[in-house]
Amino acid sequence: MQRPILAPKHSVDPDAVAFLSMAPFYGLFLVIHLLCALIFVGAVFFEVLVIEPLEKRLPPELGEKLAAAIPQQVRRFMPWVVATLFLTGAAMFWVHFSTRPNLLQTRFGILLAIKVGLAFTVLGVFVTSLRAAKRGTMDVCRFRYTHRIVAGLMVGIVLLAKGMFYL
Ligand code: HEM
Repeated sequence: MQRPILAPKHSVDPDAVAFLSMAPFYGLFLVIHLLCALIFVGAVFFEVLVIEPLEKRLPPELGEKLAAAIPQQVRRFMPWVVATLFLTGAAMFWVHFSTRPNLLQTRFGILLAIKVGLAFTVLGVFVTSLRAAKRGTMDVCRFRYTHRIVAGLMVGIVLLAKGMFYL
């Protein structure tokens, strides 16, 4: 049967069209976001699972030197990684929000919002600890405590990041 001339060829959701027009960039943002998350989360877990136990086993002066050198090294590259992680995250959030204004009423949107909330908590802890390290007020005990809190928050973020799609 022939379709009436004025009828649309196929019904295309305009939201989907807008989303797909962002698709090439979205894929790029997502890959960069994942790589930055990998470096950030990996560094925190490496600290908790490898460096901290090692510091306890090393001779005290060597352990202290290691504990002092780590924040200096982290300050060199991590702010760039974290900034890129948040910028790509914000860009992807905007793609979702601009194509689905009711985003926060969907399950995906609610889980994403909780994930972003946890991410900003991590950012707050990260910035505070970098400042403390710069001022020299970051003692070893606070350093370890901070890493454990951040590691726990990161587990939550990663579970939510995948749960957004599967829950
Ligand atoms: C500590 C900070 C963060 C970490 C560790 C993190 C980690 C992740 C991970 C592992 C994914 C899953 C990607 C996938 O496998 O598909 C993801 C997805 C996502 N993140 Fe983040 N993220 C962080 C911060 C943010 C922030 C601040 C925002 C927004 C302002 C954001 C927005 C998003 C969005 C929209 C997705 C979904 C991407 C998709 O379509 O798959 N993230 N994040």
